[in-house]
Amino acid sequence: MAVQPPSTEGGGCEPISRHPMVARPLLARMAAKHAPTYQHLGRVSRIAEYFATHLRLSRKEVRLVSLSALLHDIGKLEIPDALLTKEGWLTASEIETVCEHAARGADILSRIPALADLAGAVRHHHEWFDGRGYPDGLQGEDIPWVSRVIAICDAFDSMITPRPYAPALSVDQALEELRRGAGTQFDPELTRLFVERQQRLTVVRPKVHCEWGDPEQRPRPLAVRHKRM
Ligand SMILES: [Fe+2]
Repeated sequence: MAVQPPSTEGGGCEPISRHPMVARPLLARMAAKHAPTYQHLGRVSRIAEYFATHLRLSRKEVRLVSLSALLHDIGKLEIPDALLTKEGWLTASEIETVCEHAARGADILSRIPALADLAGAVRHHHEWFDGRGYPDGLQGEDIPWVSRVIAICDAFDSMITPRPYAPALSVDQALEELRRGAGTQFDPELTRLFVERQQRLTVVRPKVHCEWGDPEQRPRPLAVRHKRM
């Protein structure tokens, strides 16, 4: 399968029609609700697909990774807009609500026969390798492997993407952060392979105007560190 290296050039501003048909209705809802999350999903899917190809997985497995990554935050459809766009720090109970997106995403997918196979990968994309993640505190290889792949790609994209409240890290800085989290947050072997692969690529930073659309319409910042979201 010819998979092009992922580039975040242009901020991942792609039309819904670029994505697999089966995912479009959910993605269209997400694009309307919170554009930055929609753009993030597209970028993480491309990064994950390319990484999965590097892992020499079967076509079916690569598609599973790509589609799961594309929908990994779809549970945010059920999180109140006020929390996704809130300026300033979230309260403990607001953080708890936002963290529900992983389990809610799995519930959404499990009700759609064509996407039900992705539910486990989506539910567990915020588990930590050392067991300190959520929603179930799974540890090590008890965490579905697709979730462990998504966790790395998700964190990488979040770190290299500029936010209104925080500058983007360079690719090298982001890879260093991933290395630092290997064995605690991230699967150490998958992290090693990801870092090795990314170091061979030139990744273009997303453009702020593309990520956030019209500057006047920018959502308010979500002041919670991505790693715990
Ligand atoms: Fe998430």
